[in-house]
Amino acid sequence: MNNFESIENFIKNVPKSELHLHIEGSLEPELMFKLSKRNKVEIPFKSIEEIRSAYNFSNLDSFLKIYYEGSNVLITEQDFFDLTWEYILKCKRDNIVHTEIFFDPQSHTERGIEFDTVINGINKALIKAKSEFGITSEIIMCFLRHLDEELCFEVLKHATKHKDKIIGVGLDSSEKGNPPQKFKRLFDAAIKEGFLTVAHAGEEGPPEYIWESINLLKVKRIDHGVQCLKDKKLVEILKEKNIPLTVCPLSNIKLCVFDKLENHNLKEMLDNGLRVMVNSDDPAYFGGYLNTNLIETSKALNLRIEDIKVLIKNSFKSSFLDEKSKNSWLNKI
Ligand code: HPA
Ligand code: ZN
Repeated sequence: MNNFESIENFIKNVPKSELHLHIEGSLEPELMFKLSKRNKVEIPFKSIEEIRSAYNFSNLDSFLKIYYEGSNVLITEQDFFDLTWEYILKCKRDNIVHTEIFFDPQSHTERGIEFDTVINGINKALIKAKSEFGITSEIIMCFLRHLDEELCFEVLKHATKHKDKIIGVGLDSSEKGNPPQKFKRLFDAAIKEGFLTVAHAGEEGPPEYIWESINLLKVKRIDHGVQCLKDKKLVEILKEKNIPLTVCPLSNIKLCVFDKLENHNLKEMLDNGLRVMVNSDDPAYFGGYLNTNLIETSKALNLRIEDIKVLIKNSFKSSFLDEKSKNSWLNKI
């Protein structure tokens, strides 16, 4: 077995956690096609191959357009259950033992789908994941940052009725021009209700958006955050406060944040002592689930097994698991 085969085997077999995964972004073309027929919802594609070949993006916005279109096929509780269950089967395959899942309720409630339909479908699949496979999970509700803060308050009201299922709130969608400060009142209200907070920041947007997420939105983690290296002071603060950055390498390539994986700054972030880990973001659109992200990135950046262990340990350390569960997984890596 050559050195890379042994790294690949290590990645496949080690227990892993995932902290940045949009459940709507795990909608594979096969299920999209099936649901479009089942629900009689038209999609602008004639075949599964045509869907796949449409997945060429030039930036975040060009992806979001297709991603929201794809979500239109999700109508019933069963659809949200099926979507989540398919992702759980990928977790089982990839040996992901804990996952923290984002969902975008506003992309469904805007189409007349009830909030309860969405959350109950997702939650039932996660209960089954725990009982059948022992996979643990949390749900994080994301606000769409291209919408007004007022509209987001409506969805926060729904979330408060499901506090038993939703651990925290996040911020996603079109980043540039929608700074975190736009949502300060909303995040204050969410924190008052007992939700933990995270936010996408510094994916395409400037380091300033990472500062605002920390100082105004009081986030526990930054999602993406790859632009942080442009600001030395920010890097110092991220290190000092041990703020996790949920990096998604294949996503960054597909959305042209970096031109190729060999030029991704993950290794530089690691070498700077930042608390980074690898995640899949929207795996059905970006060409791979967690193991593929880890394997491809390790190959492109020449990561050593020690680097990979740090990434995987960082993921457990940064999760919303209790200390006892964290330590028990950390001891297995
Ligand atoms: N960035 C912002 N919004 C998103 C993403 C992302 O990578 N994926 C799904 N919604
Ligand atoms: Zn994301």
